[in-house]
Order: sequence, then structure tokens, then C-alpha cells
Amino acid sequence: RTVYVNGAYVPENEAKISVFDRGFLFADAVYEVTCVLDGKLVDFDGHIARLRRSLAELKMTLSVTDEELLAAHRELVKLNAITEGLIYLQVSRGEADRDFLFPAEGTPATLVMFTQEKALVKSALADKGQKIMTADDIRWRRCDIKTVQLLYASLLKNEAKANGVDDVWMVLDGQVTEGSSNNAYIVTADGTIVTRPISNDILAGITRASLMRCAEEHQIKIEERPFTVDEAKAAKEAFTTSATGMVVPVIEIDGVTLGDGKPGPVAKRLREIFIQFSR
Ligand code: PDD
Repeated sequence: RTVYVNGAYVPENEAKISVFDRGFLFADAVYEVTCVLDGKLVDFDGHIARLRRSLAELKMTLSVTDEELLAAHRELVKLNAITEGLIYLQVSRGEADRDFLFPAEGTPATLVMFTQEKALVKSALADKGQKIMTADDIRWRRCDIKTVQLLYASLLKNEAKANGVDDVWMVLDGQVTEGSSNNAYIVTADGTIVTRPISNDILAGITRASLMRCAEEHQIKIEERPFTVDEAKAAKEAFTTSATGMVVPVIEIDGVTLGDGKPGPVAKRLREIFIQFSR
């Protein structure tokens, strides 16, 4: 694979990052995952807008323009002949001697990108539906910033696997915030989609924004309000969204089967609508 490191396209085994990189030492870095369908980027503008926001919130500067980022994404898709998969982008505050204080102004950020070829449309998990467990959301309260501090999400994902389920929904003050790496939704008895409003407690999913547009276009009602685990367990359906998962139905929460234990019609329909919309 060819990867991108600070303006250069290099074979992955020749790519180098300093041991003093702040992304490595402090998780002082932000990232984006953009999906590729039919060789084309999905919602690149949304991802770049969110990246700029993450950078601004952390007072990080990146001297690469949006146009250059787009060109690099396209170049990597071409060089690695990606038809379906993703592009990962990470920006760290750069290389500096270890210090909790930020490095001197003008220290260049570290920018890396790589690709992953991966089937997204055809998904065994989406066909089968995912089983979810819940866990306390003990993350810091700036989950709106897409930082690489993913250790808790990683621990939870492994706990899910150890418990024979697929993923975890995190719970804050009795209410679901989001999944380990996706946004969470339930479908009420009258077919309304419910999802937590945007705040510092969740990541504002780019897929979430697209899904809301899709739902509106198809006259499906969406209500932005927090919901409890009990409400989720009693829901007709549930699902998650993310760039790589798109829309994935949920069939079980903490051992309680939703509906008939198969992916629900609303989630299945939204997955189809979303894929069509993204192509
Ligand atoms: N995760 N919430 C969290 C905590 C996430 O990590 C993600 C994305 C989302 C969904 O955002 P989007 O629709 O923009 O992908 C919500 C990415 C895919 C990842 O970490 O791989």
C-alpha cells in the first residue's frame, strides 16, 4: 500500500513518524474516516468541515488546504485502486520534546493518510443485525471532538466480543449517548426515529446528518431527544450509523430481543436509501 505522510506518497513500510510525535505521546491528534463507494469519496465536504472544527477546538493548525486534502484523498484512492473501503486521515500537533505544554507556534502538524479496501455495502453484520450491550460512558466530556483517544472505545469493543455481542452503547445519566464508534437510534411504535441531540457528549456523525436528510426526503419522522436503555429495550427497532457501517440494524440490547429478533423494516429501508443517496 501507498500511504501519505506530510505531503509525500510512500510505500507503507517506508513511512516514518517520530517517536516524539504528540499524537503518539499524548493522543494529541484528531482524525477522520471517509468512506469510498465505487471509487468515489462519500461526503468528503462534511468530513473536512468536521476536521476543521476538531482542529479549531484544540487550537491546532494545519497548513494544508481543503483542496490539497481532497487531492490527496483522490490520489490515494487512485494509487491503491480502492473501489470500496475507506480513507483514514490523522493530524497531530507535530513533533516536539515531551512536554504537557503545546510546542512552540509554527511547529508543523503531522498529517498522515492511508486507505483500506473493505466491503461496505455487502455486510454480514447488517444482514444479521447486531447485538448490543450497554456500559457506563466514562469518556471525557468533549466527545464532539474526533480525537484519537479511543482506548475506552477499544476496551468496550473487546468486552463486547468477550460477552458474545457485537458492540456497546454507552450510557450517561441513564441515557444512551452513542455506540463505541457510531451514533445510536431507536424506532418507536409509530415509526418515529429517535436519536440523541448533538452536544459535547457525542460525535456529530456525518452519516447521522446524511441520514436525517434521507429521512426527511422520505417523510420519515426524526425526533432528536435523549432516550433511556429501558426505552431502547422496549423499542420496535434500533440501529446505528457510521461512515464505514452506514446503517446497521440492532436486534438485541443487554440480552433483550427487539421485535422478532431480525433487522427491522425501518432500519433496512434506511440502509438502502442511504446507500443509494451516497452513490
Ligand atoms: N467512527 N460516534 C463515534 C464515537 C465515532 O467514533 C463515530 C465514527 C461516529 C459516527 O460518525 P460518522 O458517521 O461521521 O462516521 C459516532 C469512525 C467511523 C471510526 O472511528 O472508525
